[in-house]
Amino acid sequence: MGIKNSIDDFAIFGGEPSFDQQLHVGRPNIGDKELLLKRIGEVVDRRWLTNAGPCVDEFEQRLRKLLGVRHCEAMCNATDGLQLAMRAMGMNGEVIVPAFTFIATAHAVQWLGFTPVFCDVDSHTHTIDPARVEELITPRTTGIVGVHLWGQPCDVEALEAIAMRHGLKLLFDAAHAFDCSWRGRMIGNFGGAEVFSFHATKFFNTFEGGAIATNDADLASRVQRMRNFGFAGLDQTDALGTNAKMSEASAAMGLTNLESLPEFLETNRLNYLAYRQGLDGITGIRMLEYDRSEKRNYQYIVLEIEEPHTILSRDELQNILWAERVLARRYFYPGCHRMEPYASTTPNAGSRLPVTERLAQRVLVLPTGTAVSPEQIKTICGILRLAVSHGGDTARRLDGLRAAPQQAGR
Ligand SMILES: Cc1ncc(COP(=O)(O)O)c(C=O)c1O
Repeated sequence: MGIKNSIDDFAIFGGEPSFDQQLHVGRPNIGDKELLLKRIGEVVDRRWLTNAGPCVDEFEQRLRKLLGVRHCEAMCNATDGLQLAMRAMGMNGEVIVPAFTFIATAHAVQWLGFTPVFCDVDSHTHTIDPARVEELITPRTTGIVGVHLWGQPCDVEALEAIAMRHGLKLLFDAAHAFDCSWRGRMIGNFGGAEVFSFHATKFFNTFEGGAIATNDADLASRVQRMRNFGFAGLDQTDALGTNAKMSEASAAMGLTNLESLPEFLETNRLNYLAYRQGLDGITGIRMLEYDRSEKRNYQYIVLEIEEPHTILSRDELQNILWAERVLARRYFYPGCHRMEPYASTTPNAGSRLPVTERLAQRVLVLPTGTAVSPEQIKTICGILRLAVSHGGDTARRLDGLRAAPQQAGR
């Protein structure tokens, strides 16, 4: 592993990379492997692989208890979960969603044949801005989907008030917010329903998977049937359904990972503190701070790069890190409104989404989780500090590389 004493040592300028192996954002957190394999062995022996099996049943019970919510229906993933929830809640027409989110939020709306209407986000929390939501409501609006981005809850109170005032359905995309709270109550209890993702990259995973949490018994039973083709009996469907069931193997992973949740959380929390310490005082690099009086999963280390101060752009810093094998990500670049099919249908949406546009240019997410150690974090922070403290020189060297890429062997 190359030690960096000057910018000449950066791998992008020909030095040895800082890491032997790539460091990824969202490398899976995996609990006790022996326990997982034992559970999967039992699944195989039972020959009950899916369809309301004992692992899914136990997993749902544990989720309900953890979240303090009446109903929690396991799903094959959050994208299907969002679609099912929106349909089961009776949304149609226009649905207001933040533009700064993973594309699945918007795609879920569009896939149903509804129209996602992109709303700007708050510059501090990065979650949907309630003041902007109200301006977008039309006679065709039926719902709002708030996203608890980075595990930071939306302004739940303001969104609930807007939904109530205008007779709209309110759903939360809680893909990032498993094991997080709002005003001391667990995420999963708000709006009409909340949808979690248990994708491999999330704080808590079931390989692929998700869940719909709700305190509405009717909604929960509609969702239960819809995820299983609409079956209400052996030979009878009572509505349109699809296949969004979680498999027993995924639930076995879920049960195993739930047992390691405190350990995942402690690792993430210590990594977060290591980043805070390591990045402290670097001009122009702002790290998103989590509210430590609430439950947070610390799964995302989110930087905002203020280019006038760093001299280097977010993308230049990303390129420097990638050369060192630190695969930092520009989430959620370039903003949903600039991705297809939305870029073609609403080409001017950016003009009313200034915060999203700014964040899409500035945000850089760094690796954390159980696959990353505080020692590695120290090295990552050291790279950023060295690059920014020699911002002018580094930028000039990068310009030189761009002018003559073949000489640098790129
Ligand atoms: C904000 C957000 N919503 C929805 C999803 C979709 O989740 P899944 O991959 O479980 O379908 C993700 C991530 O994958 C996400 O980050």
